[in-house]
Amino acid sequence: MSHLFPTYARWDVTPVQAKGAYLTAKDGKEYLDFTSGISVCNLGHAPENVKKAVEKQLNQFWHTSNLFQIELQEEVAKQLTDASGLDLVFFGNSGAEANEAAIKLARKSTGRTKVITFVNSFHGRTFATMAATGQEKIKTGFGPMLETFEYVTMNDLDSLKAALDENTAAIMFEVIQGEGGINEGDAGFLQEAEKLAHENGSLVIIDEIQTGIGRTGKPFAFQHIGLHPDIVSVAKGIASGFPLGAIIGKSSLSDAFSAGSHGSTFGGNPVALAAAKETLSTIFNDGFLDDVTKKGEKLQSLLLEALKDEPIFKKLKGKGLMIGIELNEEAGPFLSEAREQNLLILTAGTHVIRLLPPLNVTEEEIEKAASIITGILKK
Ligand SMILES: Cc1ncc(COP(=O)(O)O)c(C=O)c1O
Repeated sequence: MSHLFPTYARWDVTPVQAKGAYLTAKDGKEYLDFTSGISVCNLGHAPENVKKAVEKQLNQFWHTSNLFQIELQEEVAKQLTDASGLDLVFFGNSGAEANEAAIKLARKSTGRTKVITFVNSFHGRTFATMAATGQEKIKTGFGPMLETFEYVTMNDLDSLKAALDENTAAIMFEVIQGEGGINEGDAGFLQEAEKLAHENGSLVIIDEIQTGIGRTGKPFAFQHIGLHPDIVSVAKGIASGFPLGAIIGKSSLSDAFSAGSHGSTFGGNPVALAAAKETLSTIFNDGFLDDVTKKGEKLQSLLLEALKDEPIFKKLKGKGLMIGIELNEEAGPFLSEAREQNLLILTAGTHVIRLLPPLNVTEEEIEKAASIITGILKK
């Protein structure tokens, strides 16, 4: 009998070891892992350089509290601000916490309360981020939600115009919706949405928790379409599997986050930061990111070539190494078939197979995964 609340529909896979793109289970079965801990282990499992940095920090100190000057926080904050073009960072421990901080900062700095989010978005499971999420299934059974969120349809400017008002603190969105189905916002729509928000005195919050840290071939997905967010939230891939989240924001917002206004006991933990520093210095590098783009293109072209005439196949979605295969039927059953053939993959929404391989995946691993997936879908 399990002693865990059954919040997850867990697979019958018990990991005992994981290295690079491979994960070994207790029964001895070795899997090619195209889930990366859901866009977390972006350098594969247990990368050597990150491991060394973590070991060094473990031998120094583990935790003091945010009453101290933590040099690693300054160093990682500089990496994040340099890569994003923003100015200041607040560290938490997870994606939902980062979005909580973003929502609080937007409300306090504007003195307004409404935050507009998008239908099919996913922003987390805390009370505010659950309410921010534009999917009913996430909220079912929890009673009345926080009422200061309003949901608009992605790529529909009229619905955004109707929702923007003098009480709108921010619009908040994912450039590519991850959990919702690898749905890309049109560049023109997102650029106009940003313009309308700024003209209205509202902030633009971009949730880069799944898309960020190189996943789409740039440090942040908003950089593909030249957006100018006021706040960006990140987590997942930032520290190769150690719990860390952050918001990166404009210096003009700093008064609203003055001493005592927000905090987290564990936020910016030095061990997680040691992992983050090494992870970011590997990923935030033009050569590395160009490879992510090339590998993503290779995976997409192998999939498209093999699937384009299959009745089950609808289309490919996504950018870089965040790829969705949209099907004409539910995607769920194909995950167990893939596991039987030693490949770990995910779904997004109901009809999309989601692939999130490590960003340093090899050509051979890409070919192997593409061949298993296309074999299953052709059957
Ligand atoms: C876009 C996005 N925002 C927020 C979250 C929540 O992150 P966490 O599970 O770390 O709280 C997720 C997690 O899947 C996500 O994909």
